[in-house]
Parts: sequence; C-alpha cells; structure tokens
Amino acid sequence: MGYNVAVDGPAGAGKSTIAKLVAKEKGYIYVDTGAMYRGLAIHFLKKGINPDNKKAVADACRDAQVTIGYENGAQQIYLNGENVTAMLRTEEVGNMASKTSAIPEVRQKLLELQRSLAEEKDVIMDGRDIGTNILPEADVKIYLTASVETRAKRRFDELKAKGIECSLEEIARDIKERDERDMTREIAPLRRAEDAVLIDSSEMTITQVVEAICSYCR
Ligand code: DC
Repeated sequence: MGYNVAVDGPAGAGKSTIAKLVAKEKGYIYVDTGAMYRGLAIHFLKKGINPDNKKAVADACRDAQVTIGYENGAQQIYLNGENVTAMLRTEEVGNMASKTSAIPEVRQKLLELQRSLAEEKDVIMDGRDIGTNILPEADVKIYLTASVETRAKRRFDELKAKGIECSLEEIARDIKERDERDMTREIAPLRRAEDAVLIDSSEMTITQVVEAICSYCR
C-alpha cells in the first residue's frame, strides 16, 4: 500500500491548487478524481445524453474507458484513448460531472481506478468521497473548505484573468447549487470524514494551507 493523503471538500475550495503543491513538496503523485468524473462527463456530452436520464447515463458508461497518465508530472485524462485534458475545466463539463456523479454506475466505473492508483503509489488524492469511501484507511484525511463568498470570488478572479466575462452572483449561485447536489446525493455524498482534519481556507493564503497540510504528512 502506498502512503495516502485524502483531500475532500466542496467546489472551489482550492483542493487541486493545494494538493498539487503538497505533492511537489512531499514527492507524492497528485490524483485529481474530479477530472475523471469530468472525463466521463465529456463522453455523455458527446453522446447528447440528458443527465436526468439515469438509465441512459448508466448504459453510456459501458462504452467509455477513462484512463490516466502523466506528462511532465501533470495528470492527463484519456477518454477512449483520446487526451481530453484541455476540455475538462468548462462550466458545462463541471455541471454534467456534478449531475452524473450521483449515478451509481458512474461512481462504480471510477472506483477501481482510484483505489488501484492509491494502492501502488504514494498519492495525494482530491475529490468528494476520498476519505469517506474510496480510501477509508488513508494515512491523512483533510476536509478543505471555504465560505461560498470566498470560493465565488476566487472563481470570478480566475475567469476574469482569462478574459472571460462573468457575474459574481451567477458564480455564487452555481457554487451553492453544486454544493447542494454534491452533499445531498444518496451515494457517497460530500461530507467530512470523522477523522478528517478540517481546514477553512477563507482567511488563509495558499502557502499557509500547504504548510498546514504538510505538517500532518510524513
Ligand atoms: O472537483 P471537480 O469540480 O473537478 O469535480 C467535478 C464534479 O465531480 C463534482 O461536482 C462532483 C464530482 N466528484 C465526485 O462526485 N466525487 C469525486 N471524488 C470527485 C468529483
């Protein structure tokens, strides 16, 4: 078994930014499980599947193969052999991923891949159910969160820096909707594992959060 660090938390809490830095500092492999759900979401979007049609989503899982690779240390997601990494980070893909990740066949499809990565390697893995469901025996569990306002403002600044027009109110609404969906679904909802360390990054710098997490790790 590798040394496993699980980082869970809501959308926009900074999990991937922080986990990547901790990975670099400690020499772990960073595994972004949200990107795997996003990879499958691209498959559903390509097929024009309605995410509310659970049976259609479940059926479509059968002809989707999501695999993961690394290029210069950066995680790449392949959907049926095609590198779809550049397409993962849109709102459309994120919303499709959030809706379809509530469907059992979708979660089952990715569970083995996630567990096998953690078995072989020292990893820091981020997602929604890593500490509660995927790696219940993880060596370190972190629940990273921040207020809706902080998360919306970070997302707003990120989009603005890319020259994308957006409204802070709309982003905040979207974040609240996604929290609601991720936290209230029946299977593997987002929640803090009892043995997870809670870190609220609302008033913390990136360096402070990275240092805090590193202090719990080997
Ligand atoms: O972290 P993210 O925004 O890239 O994740 C996209 C969606 O995937 C998120 O809204 C919920 C889902 N997800 C999940 O259900 N379980 C995970 N371990 C990771 C992501």
